[in-house]
Amino acid sequence: MILKSTIEKVVESSRIDEVVGDFVQLKKRGANLLGVCPFHNEKTPSFTVSPSKGIYKCFGCGKAGDSIGFIMEHEHYSYPEAIKYLAKKYHIEIEETVQTDEDKIAESERESLYVVSSFAQKFYTDYLHLTEEGKSIGKSYFIERGFTEATIEKFQLGFAPTEWSKFTDTALQNQFKLTHLEKTGLTIVKENKQYDRFRGRVMFPIHNLTGRVIAFGARILKTEPNSPKYVNSPESDIYSKSKILYGIYFAKKTITQNDECFLCEGYTDVISLHQAGIENAVASSGTSLTVEQIKLIGRYTKNVTVLYDGDAAGIKASLRGIDLILEEGLNVRVVLFPDGDDPDSFSKKVSTSELKDFLKANSKDFMLFKTSLLLSDVGNDPIGKAKLIRDIVESIAKIPDAIIRSTYTKQCANLMEISEQVLISEVNKIRRKDFNKKTEEEVAQDYFEEILQPDQQEIIQDGSFFQEQEIIRLLLNFSDNEILISEGESEREGEGEKQTAHVKNFMKNELEMDGIKFENELFANIFAAYDNFEDDNKSNQQYFLQHENPEIRNKVGELISERYELSEHWQERGILVPPKDFDVRKSVIDAIYHLKKKCIMKMIVDKDHEIKTAFETNNDYEQLMEDKKSLLDLGKQINSFFGTVISH
Ligand code: UTP
Ligand code: MN
Repeated sequence: MILKSTIEKVVESSRIDEVVGDFVQLKKRGANLLGVCPFHNEKTPSFTVSPSKGIYKCFGCGKAGDSIGFIMEHEHYSYPEAIKYLAKKYHIEIEETVQTDEDKIAESERESLYVVSSFAQKFYTDYLHLTEEGKSIGKSYFIERGFTEATIEKFQLGFAPTEWSKFTDTALQNQFKLTHLEKTGLTIVKENKQYDRFRGRVMFPIHNLTGRVIAFGARILKTEPNSPKYVNSPESDIYSKSKILYGIYFAKKTITQNDECFLCEGYTDVISLHQAGIENAVASSGTSLTVEQIKLIGRYTKNVTVLYDGDAAGIKASLRGIDLILEEGLNVRVVLFPDGDDPDSFSKKVSTSELKDFLKANSKDFMLFKTSLLLSDVGNDPIGKAKLIRDIVESIAKIPDAIIRSTYTKQCANLMEISEQVLISEVNKIRRKDFNKKTEEEVAQDYFEEILQPDQQEIIQDGSFFQEQEIIRLLLNFSDNEILISEGESEREGEGEKQTAHVKNFMKNELEMDGIKFENELFANIFAAYDNFEDDNKSNQQYFLQHENPEIRNKVGELISERYELSEHWQERGILVPPKDFDVRKSVIDAIYHLKKKCIMKMIVDKDHEIKTAFETNNDYEQLMEDKKSLLDLGKQINSFFGTVISH
């Protein structure tokens, strides 16, 4: 058992932003940090981290907790495992009461597999450095390939003895269980015989996100006709090859820092790039790229550059895989290496700065790269060209971001020498077809994502309660404050005259102009009462505080009490304005526009409903689509308003 004092130290030292930041790219939003939730599938960030409270919370899936909870959830660790992880991160010595036999048995099965894998890694590494065979065969191979001592150490490379069962025997002597050796695939058991899976090969341990060894790739040293170049660990409880990328543990920090990830094919490519000073490189390790691997990259950056050895057949085979990256909403570029070179061999021929320059100079936008590659095949064949257009259109239609989509439509039309209008209408046809297949919820979700800034994603189901309440709160406290309503214009005209309005009138105007009414009856009543009020805040407040309706008394009391803090709801979204330099004008405008946005979101969802019904009943939906487009435009306007005026 871990001592209570150790646990306390861990809790005190752990900083939620640092703990979460190892796994999720976080951006500052007001007092909080915001990122893409690692626990559910989302494109628009709704995962918030509050350093002051020491907690994380996702507004999409509802998961929440502190540092320890995060590690348990994310790494599937037990409580003590999470404590140990954090202790290691913060260099805290773990004090434990002596482990009993029972404790040992209770240690989770998964933990045993980790421990066996770590033991194996140390065994192979020691074998490389300390034995005659390891040194003369394994190490000299690495050195010959140009790997430095530091690189060999960093990636924990090793060598597996040629003998049939040296590793298995050693592990069993060290009290490891055969079942665990078999489950990790390190040992193969056949009819009472057991032998090592990896023999006479150089070893590449594969690490998970926290740096623990979960599997191995093992390379043969010289080509042999009937042996595969690499033997890899099979899948196990701790290793799922479709979910991990080779090198991600070493690369994740730099990926976040540089906001870019280089994706290559092999273990040696990753290692050589790291050695050359390019540390944001990972590999899919022979498997074709999976959606899970792309999402893993997407947690750290939206920019992927795929590094290819310049073999045209290979490239064509993997075009589809790269399309997947686009579908996930990431930006993809490609770099082709000169004939016969891969990132590994190329990086050995040039200096680090030359390599970096080469990558920069030779990276091409993937969609355009693909279009011109396929176009060069088609030549002047009209049927081939028609097929190509369909192919490109399919790819473009899958890109979630409307702006990127339209940029590609333009550029591809240019490349293919066809009218942009034709491409646009083809893309739209496909999107409408896909749209038709989606559930109402998915449709609504898509459009939220299209119009919403990441930090303002709100769940429509809340209704407008919070937005309305915020307006009433400001009204109650500042109704007779004068705020500036147009400064920019008069300055431009050189008049220097500033137009102001009372908060009360400003709000009334703004809402009436857009025909917005309060949903909440209580708030509607309070707002309406101001029509008959003089500009005297104190006595207006008193009117409500003595109101016959207790609900009004309580609500108003709550909203004007000095201890009142902006509700959790607003704080979590980082919209909290510090009371000290409270800016009435900014807050009022902010509140009004939040309510407007909410209303537009609701109208869009309603419109989608109508469109869907029209689809299903074969009625004309063109006009409805137009209506929706204007609503989306309106939403975008409001968003850009938040972007330029409010958040600065
Ligand atoms: P490569 O053949 O490009 O290997 O396969 P490499 O890593 O560049 O190795 P070197 O440079 O020839 O030494 C790319 C990746 O495909 C997987 C491995 O993960 C390899 O790194 N692979 C390849 C296998 O799993 N098995 C194989 O037999 C071959
Ligand atoms: Mn290679």
